[in-house]
Amino acid sequence: MTTREERIEELERAGHNLFGVPGPRVLIDLLTDSGTGAMSSEQWAGLQRGDESYAGSASWERFRESVSELFPFKHLIPTHQGRAAEKILFSVVGGPGRTIPNNTHFDTTRANVEYTGAEALDLPIPEALVPSSRHPFKGNMEVDALRRVLAERDVPVVFMTLTNNSGGGQPVSMENLRAVREACGDVPLFLDACRFAENAWFVKLREDGYADVPVPDIVREMAALADGMTMSAKKDPLGNIGGWLAVNDDALAEQSRNLLILTEGFPTYGGMAGRDMDALAQGLREAVDEDYLHYRIRSTAYLGEALDRAGIPVVLPVGGHAVYIDARGLLPHIPPLEYPGQALAVALYREGGIRGCEIGTVMFGRHPDGSETPAAMDLVRLAIPRRTYTQSHVDYVIEVCEHVASHASELRGLRIVEEPAALRHFTARFAPLTS
Ligand code: F0G
Repeated sequence: MTTREERIEELERAGHNLFGVPGPRVLIDLLTDSGTGAMSSEQWAGLQRGDESYAGSASWERFRESVSELFPFKHLIPTHQGRAAEKILFSVVGGPGRTIPNNTHFDTTRANVEYTGAEALDLPIPEALVPSSRHPFKGNMEVDALRRVLAERDVPVVFMTLTNNSGGGQPVSMENLRAVREACGDVPLFLDACRFAENAWFVKLREDGYADVPVPDIVREMAALADGMTMSAKKDPLGNIGGWLAVNDDALAEQSRNLLILTEGFPTYGGMAGRDMDALAQGLREAVDEDYLHYRIRSTAYLGEALDRAGIPVVLPVGGHAVYIDARGLLPHIPPLEYPGQALAVALYREGGIRGCEIGTVMFGRHPDGSETPAAMDLVRLAIPRRTYTQSHVDYVIEVCEHVASHASELRGLRIVEEPAALRHFTARFAPLTS
């Protein structure tokens, strides 16, 4: 436990960037749901079973079988986490003059696209940008806009992020995925599928015709519409580390494997230990268990609905892995270029030791040419690690949010005093503004 005074000191040391605060100085850590979940006893048993043969281990076979039960793509390329899969894929298909459309790119995906000189283009439906809109599938892509982009630009691949993380953990409907598939024609469609199980659960709950379809079948139906995928196995697959790239195309697979050997490892382990692959083989089965998904989505909604009832603006409907507070809505006196999301995230830590994550102008406001514009929204994401916190932890989070919101008019923005050229949110340093 830390006192308020100790947390003020931590904030100064960290340049008011919560990525710089040591984990033990955080009371409730909602920075991310990535790699932070609790593994089950069966996953721990998998760790013990791990076969660490360099080539063709038994763990690799178990991993491959479990992945292909849900995602039967022809080639599976294991990586240490999602961004390694992105780096390999975009090194092959990206490059200057090319455009990669996505419902909304997440930070590392955008950065990996832009690093190759290609343009990362977000095409969310208009409702996705209105935090209070209760559209059931705010992860959907604007299909007419996609058609125009495909007609006018050089597009090597279209991406769909399930669920849409930057836009509030919002799901994509099967109907929209089908329409995107149809619009793509011969252009490959890839899924950024970290939160595939949560997306499938929302399809089951909200989309006509899916109430009686088992979640694994919904996942297979989504996979069948795509030509490949990238995966961060640190999310829905319940791993602490891991990921993969999967593709149907033989030539793309060969080029990707060559890069894999260069940067990650041999093609039957890539970036993972055998034991990690066993933990994931089991985690994938647990991820599509409907009792687990029921618990998971209800616990996120419990937090979101309580904040909504308290009059705190949140992205609605509440998403899958996180509750997103609309910081621009809560702090209208702080202009976007003074980072209302960062101001709110800092206040939640200072007042209650809660660590959330700004998803807004700090994360997305700076462009490859160095210019800066407000992001579409300024949100603070409270991501819920899987199977980790209890209802009483979450009740405490609700109390702290209510306390901070009741002093909202006293909060002030920040300015950036140091930042790197890309992915600045991880390492930038801030100074608080006094007026
Ligand atoms: N795609 C999405 C939609 C993500 O949310 C992430 C990671 C990645 C790709 C990259 O995966 O971390 O394994 O390299 N998101 C984490 C988050 C970090 O906090 O949302 P990675």
